Amino acid sequence: MALIDELQELRTTGLESIAASDDLAGLEAVRVALLGKKGSLTGVLRGLGALAADERPAAGKVSNEVRQALEEALADREAVFSASALERRLTAEAVDVTLPGRRRAPGRQHLIEKVTREISDIFIGLGYRIAEGPEVELDYYNFTALNTPPDHPARNASDTFYVEDLSGDAATVAGESDVLLRTQTSPVQVRVMENSTPPIYILAPGKVYRRDVADPSHLPQFTQIEGLVVDEGITFGDLKGTLEHFAHEMFGPDRAVRLRPHFFPFTEPSAEVDVSCHLCNGAGCRMCKGSGWLEVLGCGMVDPNVFGYVGIDPERYSGFAFGMGAERIAALKYGVPDLRHFIESDMRFLRQF
Ligand code: DAH
Repeated sequence: MALIDELQELRTTGLESIAASDDLAGLEAVRVALLGKKGSLTGVLRGLGALAADERPAAGKVSNEVRQALEEALADREAVFSASALERRLTAEAVDVTLPGRRRAPGRQHLIEKVTREISDIFIGLGYRIAEGPEVELDYYNFTALNTPPDHPARNASDTFYVEDLSGDAATVAGESDVLLRTQTSPVQVRVMENSTPPIYILAPGKVYRRDVADPSHLPQFTQIEGLVVDEGITFGDLKGTLEHFAHEMFGPDRAVRLRPHFFPFTEPSAEVDVSCHLCNGAGCRMCKGSGWLEVLGCGMVDPNVFGYVGIDPERYSGFAFGMGAERIAALKYGVPDLRHFIESDMRFLRQF
């Protein structure tokens, strides 16, 4: 009987193409071709209606057997493919638990942070405490109460970043408002003296801002460390002894300290402080430009006018102050020729320290 022969033939070729398929996608294509709505089996079974009524049961039985045989073969083949797909995935994603872990690079302190803490520790060791003030500061604290005259060049908008007062409350004269980015950490002195009574021994590290273009010896934002002592009987000798101690701790026990007269509005007398060059031991080298000395900070005795602004009695108390740049100290100590290295985030540079 032709139809039954066709069914048997379909079983044979169907099983062959199932066996020949070599992945899940190929197998699915074979399944659709054999058993889908437009597939071969459906096509053959269309002939069922044309058979005589007594022939139909036998043909129907064979067609069921063929369908079942094909479905089983499809299922078996699929199981093979899924198993090997799983196998492959397991191999590919295998974790070797015996491999050593990957070490994460730990964060580290930036050299400027390290030097700032080193300097702070030296003064904490002498009994100073750390004080802080705002980076966005009032003209009053940054200049006026530090005895800086109204026409002092540092107040120029070309040297100082003034902050625009959007509320329009503060008087703004020729682009110079009452609010600015502090140009020095000295205003912290004023804030501390306003709010405390002597004895005062403080160190104030922090960021300061100046309208400078970055070059080997200038940065528009850098770090200053301010010191202030106010007590009874404080003399210039105390200042010098303190700075010598600092120089020995920071640059080595053999360092000599030299004070040169200078001017700062808020100290009188004022001095600039040099430390003998630790690289050439004072003989003269590239670092100290042949002089044997490195300029490290500014200092002086607190001007009585400043005491006047904060209500401290200059007849009873005296004091000294000093200020230094952390970037400069770091550059001198570690022989860094260009301050811009400190802000460029080049890990090859930063990792050295
Ligand atoms: N504020 C000064 C500057 O930025 C540094 C300084 C000098 C601070 C003398 C002081 C001081 O406290 O007494 O150049």
